[in-house]
Amino acid sequence: MNKIKVAPSILSADFSCLDREIKKVEQAGADMLHIDVMDGHFVPNITIGPCVVKYISKVASIPLDVHLMIENPESFIDDFIGAGSDMITLHIETIAKSKIKEIGAKIRSKGVKFGISLNPGTPLDTIKDILGDVDFVLVMSVNPGFSGQAFIPEAVPKIRELRSIFKGDIAVDGGINGETAALVVEAGANILAAGSYVFGAKDPKAAILKLRMQA
Ligand code: DX5
Ligand code: ZN
Repeated sequence: MNKIKVAPSILSADFSCLDREIKKVEQAGADMLHIDVMDGHFVPNITIGPCVVKYISKVASIPLDVHLMIENPESFIDDFIGAGSDMITLHIETIAKSKIKEIGAKIRSKGVKFGISLNPGTPLDTIKDILGDVDFVLVMSVNPGFSGQAFIPEAVPKIRELRSIFKGDIAVDGGINGETAALVVEAGANILAAGSYVFGAKDPKAAILKLRMQA
């Protein structure tokens, strides 16, 4: 099994001092920074766009894991690559399957990792035939839109089945804490996106260590 990587989601950070928040989780041992991009259409919340990602890339020294929860994502891929993304995740619910190969090739040709995400209500079958075109899969364990929601346990058998057919990285996002991390890692996940558990912790280093120690 791969080493467990922890990706704190800045959605739970204090945006009035984002640079300090980023340094805080870097010093606490974060492996990458999870950046939630929301458009108010695909999900009922609006967050940030490429211009903010560009400034984050100036202060961050760990890879930027950009999670696009937006409609029509292909229109914005160049902007997010240009802004300094190291990993880009699109939702299968937002793109035509026939476009995945081409979009993935474009993203990967720039040295950026390409991931596909699926909502809790989207069956694994939907992505089985495109697993050869992605570097990683991001399994949502909450309905996307907000941090601080409760973990949806149906994500666990989904991860287990995915691990049985997919050798790449499996990331999980939503409601991850010390307890749920153990469940998803046991099922086969190796990247944990966590917002409130890390940014809300008194000791973010201990929180990250706790997530990583689940293997
Ligand atoms: C939810 C976002 C998540 C969220 C995770 O739509 O994609 O990345 O910030 O937050 P927690 O870990 O608090 O559920
Ligand atoms: Zn996310």
